Amino acid sequence: MSDQFNSEVWTEKYRPKKFEDMVGQEEILKRVKSLTNSMNIPHLLFAGPAGTGKSTLALIVVKQLFGESWRDNYLELNASDERGIDVVRQKVKDFARTKAIGNVPFKVIFLDEADALTREAQQALRRTMENYTSTCRFVMSCNYSSKILDPIQSRCVVFRFQLLEKKDIKKRIDLIAETEGLSITAEAFDALYEASEGDCRRVINLLQATSSISPNITPDLINTIVSKAKPSDIKVVLDYALSGDFQNSREKLLDIMLKESISGQDVIKAIQKEVWNLPIDNSLKVALTEKTGEAEFRLVEGSDEFIQLEALIASFVLAGENQVREGAGVVGGV
Ligand SMILES: Nc1ncnc2c1ncn2[C@@H]1O[C@H](COP(=O)(O)OP(=O)(O)O)[C@@H](O)[C@H]1O
Ligand SMILES: [Mg+2]
Repeated sequence: MSDQFNSEVWTEKYRPKKFEDMVGQEEILKRVKSLTNSMNIPHLLFAGPAGTGKSTLALIVVKQLFGESWRDNYLELNASDERGIDVVRQKVKDFARTKAIGNVPFKVIFLDEADALTREAQQALRRTMENYTSTCRFVMSCNYSSKILDPIQSRCVVFRFQLLEKKDIKKRIDLIAETEGLSITAEAFDALYEASEGDCRRVINLLQATSSISPNITPDLINTIVSKAKPSDIKVVLDYALSGDFQNSREKLLDIMLKESISGQDVIKAIQKEVWNLPIDNSLKVALTEKTGEAEFRLVEGSDEFIQLEALIASFVLAGENQVREGAGVVGGV
């Protein structure tokens, strides 16, 4: 990728360059910052969901440690790209053989997505870590620390990254909106955040995609990009069904799926979310969520999506009837 192209990808353009630019993960930032300031870091393991700042923090640490000469002292390997541990080992060897340039007595190897390494590869990595421990520090990232061998974990200080909170993501989005001249309504931000589920990379990518249509970001525009059913449309389908109007519910559903070309699975996901906002008993919500799960299972198994969805809204119709018949608080099976 050329630098020019990179600068146009917002996740790169807005990748924090200093500790202070990062949002959320407060405890982690505090501890990693103080370790870095001491100019001596242990091996680090950053565990947690995608798009929460693991790679970003690794780079910040390296830049902070080595300043201008960071490129000479830093090797980045992506475990899921590299073919086999032999490649990893050879690269580590070649890199670790020469001494660090500057005042820091070690170099840093960033092993991204370390949980993609097989058990055997991790065994080998463990020996490599031991062999080069005086000249190299490893910073590793993974989604699940449980997939990293205990002997490796025990050599690292482990930091657990959390999905980012709404207020933290908002800080980054506000910055981007201001710099790029976008206007984002509060509802649009809610839609963005909901679609991202706390993954900052996804939020930024979504925002960039949406802004290529218009700088005035609205929930509808975001939903076009996410190409998921709009919550408000799904609510109409469910309201019809619960009130016993199967015909209109079915028509609205068809409408959503055909006109907006949304897949059955996306409709089901939207229904699953929307169930919890319906003005119905909790036990009914649970029963309907179960039904929704069954429908999804059958879809994944390859059965006709429209038939499955029709059957699903039929369950909602029945649930609505039961709710009325049995009165509030007493809810029969679906
Ligand atoms: N904590 C954070 N603070 C600010 N920006 C973040 C944060 N986490 C992720 N980002 C944004 O999302 C992008 C992807 O983050 P990255 O660190 O690569 O995620 P991962 O945890 O998957 O390694 C970054 O370029 C940055 O723009
Ligand atoms: Mg990463």
